[in-house]
Formats: sequence, C-alpha cells, structure tokens
Amino acid sequence: MKKISVLFVCLGNICRSPAAESIFISLLVKKGLKDGFIVDSAGTGSWHIGKEADSRMRIAAERRDINILSKARQITSKDFDDFNYILAMDDSNFRNIQDLKNRTASTGFASIKKIQDFRSVFNEQEVPDPYFGGDEGFDYVLDILEDSVNGFFGKYFLNLFDLSLFRNLVIIKVNNFVHYLINCMSVCNNFYCVIRFY
Ligand code: 4NP
Repeated sequence: MKKISVLFVCLGNICRSPAAESIFISLLVKKGLKDGFIVDSAGTGSWHIGKEADSRMRIAAERRDINILSKARQITSKDFDDFNYILAMDDSNFRNIQDLKNRTASTGFASIKKIQDFRSVFNEQEVPDPYFGGDEGFDYVLDILEDSVNGFFGKYFLNLFDLSLFRNLVIIKVNNFVHYLINCMSVCNNFYCVIRFY
C-alpha cells in the first residue's frame, strides 16, 4: 500500500520544521500508524544543510519525550513529486515554496498548506521563528505545533484509521481490479467490521 508522505518546511530546518516533523512522528507512533507514513522536514534556506536541529529545540522537545533526530536539508523541486502534503511554518516559507514550484515549473501533486491553518487552541497565524530569541520561545513553538500538528492529523487522518483498536487485518482481492481491506476490530466484546476501498 502506498504510504502517505508529509514534509514540514521552515527557513533553516533546524528549529520549527524538525520539531513539527518529530511531533507528527510521535503522534503517529502513539496511534500505531507510523509504518503508513513517510515524514520529513526541510528548509527553504541552505545555511544549515547537514546540521542537527538547534540544541535549544532538541532540549525543549526532550522534556516532552520528543526526540528530534533529523539533519537539515534544503527543499528541492523533487519534493513536489515525492510528498502528498508540504506544510509551511510561516507566510514567507509558504511564498518561497510556491515560488520554487513556479520557478521550476514543477507538475508535482503536493498539496501546499500552512501548518497554522490547522490550529485550534492558539491564535497565531504563523509559527514564530524562535532562533534569535530566548529559551522560552522554543517551548512556545512546541506548544503551538502540538496544537496545529494534532489539528492536521485530525483533519485528514483521524477518520481514516485507528489501528490501535485493530485485532485483525485481512486483505481480500476481488477480481483483478478491486481490493477490499477489511479491518476487524473487537471492542468491549462487540465485533465491528469496517470495509475500505482502494
Ligand atoms: P527555523 O529557524 O527556520 O525554524 O529553522 C531559523 C534557523 C536559522 C536561521 C533562521 C531561522 N538563520 O538565519 O540562520
């Protein structure tokens, strides 16, 4: 089955987008869905290529049991072909991603959005850049991202899967064209059957 791919993008790829990537991965692990996804992050700028995430962000995330392991890279036009969703941290990132797509005349299918479109608790329209500020800015970015990354998951994937309840997974091939995926869940001694079409 084809994996769903999500790319988080900020300016340097050492603070906000690696944090968003790791928060999303941590959420997928909790839901038992990690194997169904490819998750990555990138920067619109090139200054930090190959570097670990900023230590201030890594330490703040570790306090929430979130490990940030990614190494910085720059977004390329190939990402428009490789990812289903590209999520920008702020308006400037969003414009730069669109510019790259136009400049390279990419025909990629990626849906480009701003992560704050999925906020619910916080009113921030953009994820603020914490790089030149104090330590508290990193915690605030994590608070904002936990809210909006959850919102992104809820909008697109909450109703598609909840593998944490799965007891059996059976794939039946019916003639050469249609695949039925039957997920059999037993909950509280009741038996539910959900059929999905691919
Ligand atoms: P990020 O933060 O875009 O969240 O990774 C920044 C990191 C580095 C720089 C700017 C923003 N910089 O100018 O080096």
